[in-house]
Amino acid sequence: MLQLGSPFHLVKRFFVSVFAFRADTKTEFQLLELLNEEEKKLYLSQPRIDRIHSVRNAKCVLSDPSGPFQPSHVIAAALHDVGKAESNLGILGRVSATTLQKILPMDIIRSWCRKDGLRKRIHSYCIHSELGAELLAKAGSAPIVVSWALQHHNEEGNTEIPQDVLAVLKRADRS
Ligand SMILES: [Fe+2]
Ligand SMILES: [Fe+2]
Repeated sequence: MLQLGSPFHLVKRFFVSVFAFRADTKTEFQLLELLNEEEKKLYLSQPRIDRIHSVRNAKCVLSDPSGPFQPSHVIAAALHDVGKAESNLGILGRVSATTLQKILPMDIIRSWCRKDGLRKRIHSYCIHSELGAELLAKAGSAPIVVSWALQHHNEEGNTEIPQDVLAVLKRADRS
């Protein structure tokens, strides 16, 4: 079953965004060099908090001692959360969405796609894995990039991505 990150994880992300005013420039440049034009648009469409997360993920894969990794692995790590941008939620909205996703049946949240306003945005945030995978597939991203975006909250395991690469991607997402 799909589970978003914990509220604690989001709060940690918030403090990182407060104290890290911008993404690491050198790694961001390295990442941009790897992205195709459509992927660049998706990266840049993210709010600052998510761009910082993208770059931290990319840096983690680039510096992983078990590397070197292919460019598609770095891109997968960096762009897995691009689906969040559509919800346009701030940190409090994200914490609320994560909490609601844990206590409400997913059917209810899915039904909010027909609503307007905050409920629609919460729905969008809760399905950011699916949205991100669709956007990346349209952007012409590599299969592993689409697959990691779709499955990065899937606790039941990911059979399409090799275990060693999966371990690095998971480690990067926790960074
Ligand atoms: Fe996510
Ligand atoms: Fe993430």
